[in-house]
Amino acid sequence: MFEMLPDNSVRMKGMEPALNPFSPGSGVKPPALVGRQTEIDAFDLLVARAKANAAGDRGILLTGLRGVGKTVLLNEFSEMARRNGWLVVQFEAQPGDGGPEAVRKKLARELQLGARRLRQTPAWSHLRSQGLGSISNISVSLGMQGLTADLKFDAGRADSRNLEIDLEEMVEDVSASMRKARAGFALVIDEMQDLESDLLGALLTVQHAAGQRGWPFYIIGGGLPSLPGRLSESRSYAERLFHYRMVGKLSPEAAAEALTVPIGRLGALLEGEALTTVLEAAGGYAYFLQAYGRTLWETASDKVITVGDARLAVELGTADLDHGFFVARWQRATPAERNYLRAMSQDGEGPSATADLSGRLGKDHSSLTSQRARLIEKGIIFAPEHGYVQFTVPGMGAFIHRQKD
Ligand SMILES: Nc1ncnc2c1ncn2[C@@H]1O[C@H](COP(=O)(O)OP(=O)(O)OP(=O)(O)O)[C@@H](O)[C@H]1O
Ligand SMILES: [Mg+2]
Repeated sequence: MFEMLPDNSVRMKGMEPALNPFSPGSGVKPPALVGRQTEIDAFDLLVARAKANAAGDRGILLTGLRGVGKTVLLNEFSEMARRNGWLVVQFEAQPGDGGPEAVRKKLARELQLGARRLRQTPAWSHLRSQGLGSISNISVSLGMQGLTADLKFDAGRADSRNLEIDLEEMVEDVSASMRKARAGFALVIDEMQDLESDLLGALLTVQHAAGQRGWPFYIIGGGLPSLPGRLSESRSYAERLFHYRMVGKLSPEAAAEALTVPIGRLGALLEGEALTTVLEAAGGYAYFLQAYGRTLWETASDKVITVGDARLAVELGTADLDHGFFVARWQRATPAERNYLRAMSQDGEGPSATADLSGRLGKDHSSLTSQRARLIEKGIIFAPEHGYVQFTVPGMGAFIHRQKD
């Protein structure tokens, strides 16, 4: 790590691995959160309007491919809302058979925990007379125990055992109390495209009622680009309930800051050409920037990071992505599903028309529907529109071309 010089002074050789600011990972807070000021301002406005008891606002839905930074933004929104005394209930939907039950329990649990967190806030006394009782009651229909007796609260509603009615009553009660405290109630749902139909439909109905009656209740969701379509299938008015925001590539300026700010903070410097080399490889994708940032720090031999370091970092970073980010998805696919993915990769990053895929694979359309459905459930592809499929991960097409088996 250190090199002794002839005059007995030491020079740092290589960068301290323990200080590496980059750590790519799902929902991991980046060392510099860049390029999302528009979204943060939009949420800030929602919080400010709830404080002013303004009514009729819409929820926010963030859609985008894997690794663009949706979860990080949802976490940021949750933090902002909590700082302002909101009741924040955050959970992630899950696909598959075990999903619905687990998610309902998670919702109940997070409702209870979220409410308990408000004990030191102005909303608490209001919630005790209206809201906590309903949270306790709905917990039971969602498959959990009600709130325990260590909390004193008035009996609530939301005990009909009809999900839609109970959700609406609970949200109405909680919203009334949050309004008195000049705060709001947010349901933050990640991977929302995987939410089971019944719960999804019920939640949309409640969001609709909330908008009409001026309750400060907002669904803040994140999911794949197929999410808006899924919502419209569930309720025809769904598109009017939300502000949709497509989370995509970062602008070149923001992408540069994602690297230079954390590096600069630690007293190192990224040379111009080194920066361009990494930016080109990352293509503006948040996850890739973090991945290449990490290898950049590992390969740098001095505080001034050179283009030579950057070239090596791109090589190592691409290998890391191939062995982690991409291969994790590739290995989840069966051999037949991999053939399907290979056929898709002929369109590069896509989208691919399902009719073309049948042609390429020499199979009729209907025999491919179950493969397509399983790949969607596994989160590897999604349907951007009817008759089309696309990879959920940027760069997957190129990765598949690099694979031998
Ligand atoms: N605005 C940003 N600036 C810099 N880095 C970011 C930004 N947003 C996210 N990242 C980084 O990108 C990576 C992916 O972020 P995140 O998990 O939020 O993506 P995602 O869209 O939720 O992906 P997935 O669809 O797989 O859940 C993380 O390592 C995170 O630190
Ligand atoms: Mg995510």
